[in-house]
Amino acid sequence: MAVVARLLILNGPNLNLLGQREQAIYGSKTLDEIMLECQQFAGTCEFELGHLQTNAEHELVERIHTAASDGTHGVVFNPAAFTHTSIALRDALLAVGLPFVEVHLSQPLGREAFRQHSYFSDIAIGTIAGFGPDGYVLGLQALINYLDG
Ligand code: DQA
Repeated sequence: MAVVARLLILNGPNLNLLGQREQAIYGSKTLDEIMLECQQFAGTCEFELGHLQTNAEHELVERIHTAASDGTHGVVFNPAAFTHTSIALRDALLAVGLPFVEVHLSQPLGREAFRQHSYFSDIAIGTIAGFGPDGYVLGLQALINYLDG
């Protein structure tokens, strides 16, 4: 890209509990530690990076709306449990038309039946799942590659 890319990471409910939450599935790193790695990656690759974690669906909807007009070029999104429930978040992403990569720490397809369906996979550039915290940097790299065309 000619201009510096501005990317946004969005994290959904319960991801603020990473490091304590079901460590056998999600690992021992906290969200702050993972986001620090992402900021370091952004520094290396020279792009701007914003982040929001919230447990509230409407706050994610509103942040996606704002992203349409604040210069954001693309989003890395772990919708967490909203992956399997939220038509509102799907519609928000379709409404703004921003490219996004869906990320999951675990591999939902290998877990309970209710995790087998995502409201996002068919409209995402792609999905990265099952690589633990590394999925975020992998998602950022994939998004940069996509934006570079
Ligand atoms: C998750 C997978 C979801 O099924 C779950 O509800 C989460 C986390 C993941 O990152 O593996 O909260 O998105």
